[in-house]
Amino acid sequence: MPTFQTVRGMRDLLGQEAQIVTSIIAKAQETASLFRFKEVFTPHVEYLELLSAKTGDEIRQRMFIFEDLGKRQVALRPEFTASIARLVTTTLRTEPKPLKLFSAGTVYRYDEPQRGRYREFWQSNFELIGVDKPEADTEIILLTNKLLQSIGLSDFAFKIGHIGIIKGILSQDGIDEKTQNTILQRMDKKEYSLALKLVDSEKCQNTLQSLISINGKDWRDVVEQINVLVVGYEKAKAAVENLVEVLTLVTASTEISLTVEPAFARGLEYYTGMIFEVYIPQLEIALGGGGRYDRLIEAFGGEPTSAVGCAHGIDRTAIAIQTQNATYLTKAKVSVVVIPITESVKVDALKIAQSIREHGVSAEFELMGRKMGKALEAADKHGFDYAIIVGERELCEGNVVVKDLKKHEQSTVLIEELFEKIKK
Ligand code: HAM
Repeated sequence: MPTFQTVRGMRDLLGQEAQIVTSIIAKAQETASLFRFKEVFTPHVEYLELLSAKTGDEIRQRMFIFEDLGKRQVALRPEFTASIARLVTTTLRTEPKPLKLFSAGTVYRYDEPQRGRYREFWQSNFELIGVDKPEADTEIILLTNKLLQSIGLSDFAFKIGHIGIIKGILSQDGIDEKTQNTILQRMDKKEYSLALKLVDSEKCQNTLQSLISINGKDWRDVVEQINVLVVGYEKAKAAVENLVEVLTLVTASTEISLTVEPAFARGLEYYTGMIFEVYIPQLEIALGGGGRYDRLIEAFGGEPTSAVGCAHGIDRTAIAIQTQNATYLTKAKVSVVVIPITESVKVDALKIAQSIREHGVSAEFELMGRKMGKALEAADKHGFDYAIIVGERELCEGNVVVKDLKKHEQSTVLIEELFEKIKK
């Protein structure tokens, strides 16, 4: 028999790893509800044409593409945004705006596997559709800030830019959209000299070169420096003004750590406005990112519709939690195992396990039918807090024996007082 392994870049998640993913999704759902985003589920498989339309080469070249049995070209979703834009142009076409949609699940990219980079990974995704005002960009940043805070992370910082600054300069220089995208992709990979090679005019090259060297935490100061450089570039100036509006709102609404980087670009092609990523100092890879994309829905055949959104990498957030020893997610809940001493008390023991669960405490029933000693040994090994030992003699008096496996103490407790005892 061959020994099967998971496909390269895909992982089984077991035990605590699985638990952390579930807990992060629960936090994302809570955040969605706090900001009034509605959860939607879309398919893992979509038409290739949809997924590749506006994502850009970076993602297009990394998709898992296949032909289904009906000879349709389909692919595993590399992100959620295209599926949500499809929804907005079809089923939700006439829904009143703003639309606020949340999803969580796995996405697929043929990335080079390494720590924090997988071919199947989890994202929580938020899209705010139908608002062109900077308040919407602000909400997306505030939401990300809130989510990471509620997960227990500290020291995370936002990198914020605006794709309209570079695009505005390039388009005024007569550079076509396709070349603009190639330049931005190179800039995203920090291949600045390769990017600048595609720019003919010296003035434009110098302006971009200066923008690349600017970044800082004092956003007003950074904006002043950018404003000096974009004199004469009307579209770029408008982009800076828009960025200022967003930054003013964000910093006035919450305490947030951010750096402004005018030459920052992202791997996805559909962005038209503010873009951001979020990092912790201990990891070089982004925990999340997003931005404004005002032309995607129109490109998919919908009405011209403004939109802004973000996605958070759940696997990377899990690494961040472990790196920072954030404890909230791993805080253990009380767990109990119920062990019947004899066959005759099996039903009573099952009922006791059930009533413990009804009180919201997780209870395992000793299913293997082991003798007391072995069952207690196994319970200890699996880290249970309590063993509830159900014996005939105690039952006759309405009691069970509760063994505290952590303190190595045991006492006889009335069944109706059992829950109070465990809770303590
Ligand atoms: P993205 O930056 O491509 O944006 O992905 C968002 C997050 O997914 C990243 O910040 C990272 O944490 C995680 N991620 C990306 N690739 C991998 C990988 N190979 N392994 C593990 N984690 C990964 C988007 O996907 C956009 N759709 C976000 C968006 C929504 N923009 C507007 N709306």
